Amino acid sequence: MDLVKEIKRLKKKKNAVILAHYYQVPEIQDIADFVGDSLQLSQKAAETDADIIVFAGVHFMAETAKILNPDKIVVLPDLKAGCSLADSCPPEAFEKFTKAHPDHIVITYVNCSAEVKALTDIVCTSSNAVKIVNSVPKDVPIIFAPDKNLGRYVSKQTGRDLLLWDGSCIVHEAFSIDKLIALHKKYPDHKIIAHPESEEHILNTASYIGSTSGMINFVKAHPNEKFIVATEAGILHKMQQEMPDTELLPAPAVEDNTCACSECHFMKMNTLQKLYDCLLNESPQIEVPEHIRKRALVPIERMLELSK
Ligand code: 13P
Ligand code: SF4
Repeated sequence: MDLVKEIKRLKKKKNAVILAHYYQVPEIQDIADFVGDSLQLSQKAAETDADIIVFAGVHFMAETAKILNPDKIVVLPDLKAGCSLADSCPPEAFEKFTKAHPDHIVITYVNCSAEVKALTDIVCTSSNAVKIVNSVPKDVPIIFAPDKNLGRYVSKQTGRDLLLWDGSCIVHEAFSIDKLIALHKKYPDHKIIAHPESEEHILNTASYIGSTSGMINFVKAHPNEKFIVATEAGILHKMQQEMPDTELLPAPAVEDNTCACSECHFMKMNTLQKLYDCLLNESPQIEVPEHIRKRALVPIERMLELSK
């Protein structure tokens, strides 16, 4: 069976849209209606008139689409496609933390569960975190969760003293600073660009720090440069498509990583076959209990409003 042809046929028949993150495997990115970063994907999910949203990403992303579209069917090719960062913030422990600091505004990175979003005042992504933090009056203290690396970076950028949750992403913490320095010595003309989920010592080497779409835009804006890219390696597919003549190298990860670069095994759980199956069977679907959905919707809508 020609999976690509069948997916296209089913998509049309069922009025479905395929939204994919830059970390998806190339064949999924190539068949998607839209490929983007977390913010762009939630904006697309908010405005779609499709009946079915096939979310080629991880659970929290599909869940955000469902929170925005309770009457639409939202399917994820593999329900086990989770996120270490979202897992690092269990809702019960987070609720205790927020209750211990009742005077704080709670800003959470979109990489968290619907339950955690329901405990949140404003959601953010890596492309708008600085803007969202800056939207809070200077005298109001802020809890920032769950990513401590992004939080530390945003704190530096805004000059705000953020109360950080101790969470992180296993993929962005897998980069090896020693190997990165060695690679940069070998390719001194390559500029290092990094995602803010990376650790501080990696960010300190970077010429540019930004979200996945920010990194792609930076590469596009500098056609005569070469780059070492410190984020999940799936981004190289779109980057290279956009800039076929630009030399790109993935930042190296520590020895025990399964890949020489850094791959998110959650993102890579989705395959073209699973995408076809979930579209055909309209399963597995994302469900969010209505009382959680209603509360989680408020901080997501605030983020979308502030990002206009
Ligand atoms: P962005 O696409 O918002 O840069 O986030 C990257 C990420 O870690 C998704 O898991
Ligand atoms: Fe989560 Fe990290 Fe994978 Fe993004 S790359 S989905 S933050 S584990």
